[in-house]
Amino acid sequence: MKVGVIGCGAMGAGIAQVAAVAGHEVVVYDNQADALKKAEANLSATLRKLQEKGKLSDAAEVISRFHFSNSIHSFADCGLVIEAIIENLEIKKKIFSEVEKVVSDNCLLASNTSSLSITSIAAACQKTNRVIGLHFFNPAPLMALVEMVPAVQSDLHFIEEAKILMQKWGKIPVVTKDTPGFIVNRLARPFYGEAIRIFEEGIADMPTIDWAMTEIGGFRMGPFTLMDYIGHDVNYIVTETVFQSFFYDPRYKPSFSQKRLLEAGWLGRKSGRGFYNYTSGTEMPNPSKDQVLGTEIFERILAMLINEAVEALHLKIADEQDLDLAVTKGVNYPKGLLQWGKEWGWASVLSKLDYLYDQYHEDRYRASVRLRQLAKS
Ligand SMILES: NC(=O)c1ccc[n+]([C@@H]2O[C@H](COP(=O)([O-])OP(=O)(O)OC[C@H]3O[C@@H](n4cnc5c(N)ncnc54)[C@H](O)[C@@H]3O)[C@@H](O)[C@H]2O)c1
Repeated sequence: MKVGVIGCGAMGAGIAQVAAVAGHEVVVYDNQADALKKAEANLSATLRKLQEKGKLSDAAEVISRFHFSNSIHSFADCGLVIEAIIENLEIKKKIFSEVEKVVSDNCLLASNTSSLSITSIAAACQKTNRVIGLHFFNPAPLMALVEMVPAVQSDLHFIEEAKILMQKWGKIPVVTKDTPGFIVNRLARPFYGEAIRIFEEGIADMPTIDWAMTEIGGFRMGPFTLMDYIGHDVNYIVTETVFQSFFYDPRYKPSFSQKRLLEAGWLGRKSGRGFYNYTSGTEMPNPSKDQVLGTEIFERILAMLINEAVEALHLKIADEQDLDLAVTKGVNYPKGLLQWGKEWGWASVLSKLDYLYDQYHEDRYRASVRLRQLAKS
């Protein structure tokens, strides 16, 4: 089967690499000639490096499977086309409606969108039942998770077919409902939001919160280091989009601290400054390493994360196994959140949240009804 990729930026190029390494002929299309040239050069260099390291037997063979094109007509004989262009609903709808006229009736059309509704994208097509979400993580060749998202209109057998294909590509597919943030970008919100809240209230400074989450919690990166790494242009916008898409549920409320960083152009590591200052010669601030405070911070953030996962389970966003796989494989959490809840004890998680709710009387801290049921049982 020939695979088509629309857009060859960070994600499109990565997805094209995965498909070509898996043995497919891959048509890569972009409307910017420069982007095509850059992707062609980068993919060749990456694959040759993989061969040098002994991770790929024949780079030249894989490279020969790419066909770079500036015309969507090159998708004519593809069996699957994955879109990875700019995150804009109108532009995505337009390209889907154009591509569906070019491909055969059996061709599956997928979007790699992080935050848009697959149902809306499908609605732009005549044949809506073959449109699904295939959400890869960055960098696509290294991150195993793929969130598979049926639109309201999708035929579920396409999801089954895509699942088998993703497994053949060495990926770990999870199925999620077409709701904002799918699994990972929804479940991970409190990791950032609650950390910022703790900082804004002056309960602890950023290095102490980062230290609590890495040293006590076992996360690979603390929330502030991670947000600076992702970039506030990406991380803040995801938070704001999720908040708006959830009809302004206070659980997902963005923060002014992060919004101001974005406005200042302090985007994180890539611009030399974010929550922390990365300009050379600047010393990183030290955490307080107060165990009692650290444990309090870690448990507060973890309780919020677990509550989010339990609520997603309750609302059937995904099944238990997929919810846990999504965070361990998509954002490298040390444990699945539902597994963590079980180990910590549902009653303990609930009492943390109820304590916060008693303190604040904010809807943000409401416990999922499912968490109450689990705690009772
Ligand atoms: N970057 C990430 O971490 C990440 C992770 C998962 C999903 N995504 C999603 O993947 C998609 C692409 O993200 P990215 O980071 O690769 O973006 P990017 O800006 O790196 O690349 C986008 C590419 O699409 C091309 N493009 C834009 N409009 C086009 C059009 N109308 N027709 C053809 N080509 C067009 C651009 O020239 C560019 O090469 C977005 O929907 C994003 O939400 C991104």
